[in-house]
Amino acid sequence: MEGKVKVFTGTGDYIASQELQNSVNVAVALQRPLLIKGEPGTGKTMLAQSIAEGLKKELLIWNIKSTTKARDGLYIYDTVQRLYDSQFGDHDVADISHYIKLGRLGESFAAQEQVVILIDEIDKADIEFPNDLLWELDIMSFYIPETRKTVKARHRPIVVITSNAEKELPDAFLRRCIFHYIAFPDAEMMTEIVKVHYPELELRLLNEALEAFYWLRSVGGLQKKPSTSELLDWVQALTTGGIKPEQIMKELPFLGVLIKKDQDFKTVLQRLHSDGKEVKPLAGIPRSW
Ligand SMILES: Nc1ncnc2c1ncn2[C@@H]1O[C@H](COP(=O)(O)OP(=O)(O)O)[C@@H](O)[C@H]1O
Ligand SMILES: [Mg+2]
Repeated sequence: MEGKVKVFTGTGDYIASQELQNSVNVAVALQRPLLIKGEPGTGKTMLAQSIAEGLKKELLIWNIKSTTKARDGLYIYDTVQRLYDSQFGDHDVADISHYIKLGRLGESFAAQEQVVILIDEIDKADIEFPNDLLWELDIMSFYIPETRKTVKARHRPIVVITSNAEKELPDAFLRRCIFHYIAFPDAEMMTEIVKVHYPELELRLLNEALEAFYWLRSVGGLQKKPSTSELLDWVQALTTGGIKPEQIMKELPFLGVLIKKDQDFKTVLQRLHSDGKEVKPLAGIPRSW
């Protein structure tokens, strides 16, 4: 049917809970930015890829760093290149438009078709950053004084914004977004997630791995709990290393794939000791990697 609205339901490689699907579809329908929070490794970045794939749109990614300024996402005026060209080049430096480069957000406005724009890890930037973007995200347009041109979105992009942080975002910014917190997957959901990555995985191995994984996450005082991406790496290590299901809880093989901090390693060992478990974790990763 023509004009039929596509609905996001996850994709072959991405498991989205019903609530997450709803949040995505509401944000798209209301044309509001979708703000996704959650622990690292809970699939925030991958969600944007999945939305783009599921809705068959191009994905533009704007990775935020501590030094990123809101303006960089709109456009930059490359004065250094212009100065260089005026001295050494044979370019026509009078035409400033040659030196105006759209940033990721600018590109998403200028695109011929509707795109998905991911503003990844917005909490990395300083506190003013989200507020500085409010106006442009609302009206989806901005003015370039150097060329006296306005860039205006033909099709409002689907905006996905991710944040890892405990750091709070400004109220005015939050008001405009559809907010979704990705809770850490429970064992049932995690089973599905692992299965989309390793469809052939032996069920007994998976169950043992999950038991060890959730046990590790439950150890008090860890600085960095292992997340989904570490579990996926671990499953790969276990299969590559030819580990048997019954070895997993006994030996915690390749623990270094899950636990990355020395202090956490010690914490885990202490906990094993106080539980009276005779476990000798084998660190490292399989040789064949
Ligand atoms: N719901 C999910 N479905 C499938 N894979 C997932 C899911 N959540 C996380 N993953 C896996 O975990 C990895 C880390 O996800 P990522 O999107 O980078 O997390 P975040 O951006 O939240 O830190 C992804 O590469 C993917 O392999
Ligand atoms: Mg990410």
